[in-house]
Amino acid sequence: MRIWCLADILPESEALSRAVELLREGAAIAIPTETVYGLAADATNGEAVARIYETKGRPQFNPLIAHVADIAMAERIADFNPLARRLADAFWPGPLTLVLPHRAGSGIHPLVTAGLDTIAVRCPRAFGARVIAALDRPVAAPSANSSGRISGTTAQAVAADLGARIPLIVDGGPTPVGLESTIVKVSDDGIALLRPGGIAAEEIERVAGLPLARGAKGVQAPGMLASHYAPSAHMRLNVTQVEPGEALLAFGPRRVGGAEKAVALRNLSESGDLREAATNLFSHLLALDSSGAATIAVEPVPLEGLGEAINDRLARAAAPRDS
Ligand code: TXA
Ligand code: MG
Repeated sequence: MRIWCLADILPESEALSRAVELLREGAAIAIPTETVYGLAADATNGEAVARIYETKGRPQFNPLIAHVADIAMAERIADFNPLARRLADAFWPGPLTLVLPHRAGSGIHPLVTAGLDTIAVRCPRAFGARVIAALDRPVAAPSANSSGRISGTTAQAVAADLGARIPLIVDGGPTPVGLESTIVKVSDDGIALLRPGGIAAEEIERVAGLPLARGAKGVQAPGMLASHYAPSAHMRLNVTQVEPGEALLAFGPRRVGGAEKAVALRNLSESGDLREAATNLFSHLLALDSSGAATIAVEPVPLEGLGEAINDRLARAAAPRDS
């Protein structure tokens, strides 16, 4: 059976201007990087980032890597201490991702970081860096595969998996590294290995002059990230009535009872659009949390499509905390 492929597949040499145009329009497209193909979108555009999760299917709002064209672009979105700078100088462009403190006012949409105060940054080689430089904005890109499949390392593999769902696949041939970047978290306490990958840990230790802390848990499963976003307010989900003093996170055109008494109100999507709701989720939660209300009441959000990930994140934000 022939797989219906909507995507144009263009060689790198012909793809640059089309890729930039689509990224500017908010599309998610597949681009080659030296590690694996990435499903790329403008990291400053919430709808574009939501489209990444939607395209991958059974979405989980795992925080994404912000890809940059060079160190200067990275320094606009993340704070580099001297150690982070040394690692970037040694390994960029290349398969090393640095998790660093996220700079205020970076312009990165909160859906990229899933509300964390750190950001994962990587500078890819070759076409990846060129397309980001031409766009002049960071690009969010998880591996270009639907959820539960292995990462695409050829344009053909990406086409077979995602070809019906994206407008463009840039064909750079088989990716040279073939597995994802090594992820290390750098802080003033040292460095921790979050995910082994394209650069060996020993090489990083040699440049850092420090051992990598290991056993940092949960980078693959976002909900297990120790620092996963949780508001300081209590959360009450699937409410049918707003209680006095509560802030309200609404969804859709119709309000629950007592909404007019909410001390603060944000609507994830007036029209009930789940992609728009995903785009707004983290920023609205932050806004309601900063209203000072002790409790954020949340209207029901349907479970279909991106609603699954939205409900997953809401449940995590509402879960009891032990610290
Ligand atoms: O080689 C790669 O890194 C590829 C290419 C496309 O660049 N990208 C990639 O992205 O593998 P992805 O989304 O499949 O994996 C990114 C990992 C996830 O496990 C995520 O949890 C972690 O990075 N991550 C992102 N931001 C983080 C943060 N602030 N703190 C800890 N982990 C983070
Ligand atoms: Mg992946």
